[in-house]
Amino acid sequence: MGRLAGKVAIVTGAAQGTGEVVARLFAEEGARVVLGDVKQDAGRRVAEEIGEAARFVPLDVTRPEDWARCVEETTQAFGGVDVLVNNAAILLLAPLTQVSREDFLRIVEVNQLGPFLGIQAVFESMKARGGGSIVNISSTDGIKGMNGVAAYASSKWGVRGLTKSAAIELGRHRIRVNAVCPEAGNPNMSSPFMPGNPDLSAVPHQMMQAILKAPEGRAPTSRIRDVANMVLFLASDESLSCTAGDFVVDAGLTAGAWQKGAPGA
Ligand SMILES: NC(=O)c1ccc[n+]([C@@H]2O[C@H](COP(=O)([O-])OP(=O)(O)OC[C@H]3O[C@@H](n4cnc5c(N)ncnc54)[C@H](O)[C@@H]3O)[C@@H](O)[C@H]2O)c1
Repeated sequence: MGRLAGKVAIVTGAAQGTGEVVARLFAEEGARVVLGDVKQDAGRRVAEEIGEAARFVPLDVTRPEDWARCVEETTQAFGGVDVLVNNAAILLLAPLTQVSREDFLRIVEVNQLGPFLGIQAVFESMKARGGGSIVNISSTDGIKGMNGVAAYASSKWGVRGLTKSAAIELGRHRIRVNAVCPEAGNPNMSSPFMPGNPDLSAVPHQMMQAILKAPEGRAPTSRIRDVANMVLFLASDESLSCTAGDFVVDAGLTAGAWQKGAPGA
């Protein structure tokens, strides 16, 4: 019996990367899963590979009408929604002074407004089913800062604020809301870029690798499967007392610096 047996989940941004791994793991654990993404071909392919327990629904998380259709199709297919994973996001790596108003707003729209609309969309269904679990994917950039990610970090800090407020407000309906903060630049994750923006899709992979290389003295970087397992834990009834929390999966990145030369080094 899987840890999500009988549960119905929506996972956003599930056409690739973390969302795909989460969707596959959820199905392995007995859930029926709806994969939402703007990348329709890739999303359909993943859903088909998972099989009968999965459906793909085209979803732009910034559009309330897409959310309404997603919840409707999920309900038609599987009866309602128990779990929502707000995973879809975009990243812009650029100096703060070069981020346009439009790019900033687009990042906030996808990364912060998207999860907000998702919570609104699933609320009635979760309430009617006696509760649910919402997992918002933030980032270590939602706990600390870094040069080059001012807009992204703003949105990811926002996700944590949304998480706490939603957890307080929806707790009486037995809806839990938590944030997962994966390490920025986990080399096993694909690098998220702003889709359709030629300037940004040119960000070289080596640059990501260089920025995000684990500092000397640190544990190995975290793994995408570990992130998915954390999401699974929070989605399942094994975490019934967890709500409004930030759960880092960062191999110690946010713990502080390893000081060469200091005692214990
Ligand atoms: N990759 C990292 O290093 C890293 C680190 C920390 C946190 N995260 C977070 O983990 C999550 C997943 O990251 P990833 O590396 O798997 O990203 P990814 O780019 O591989 O996948 C993101 C998915 O979201 C989809 N998406 C983008 N805009 C969308 C929209 N408007 N509506 C619906 N879907 C949309 C994309 O099509 C893509 O399939 C994100 O929230 C990201 O911020 C990633």
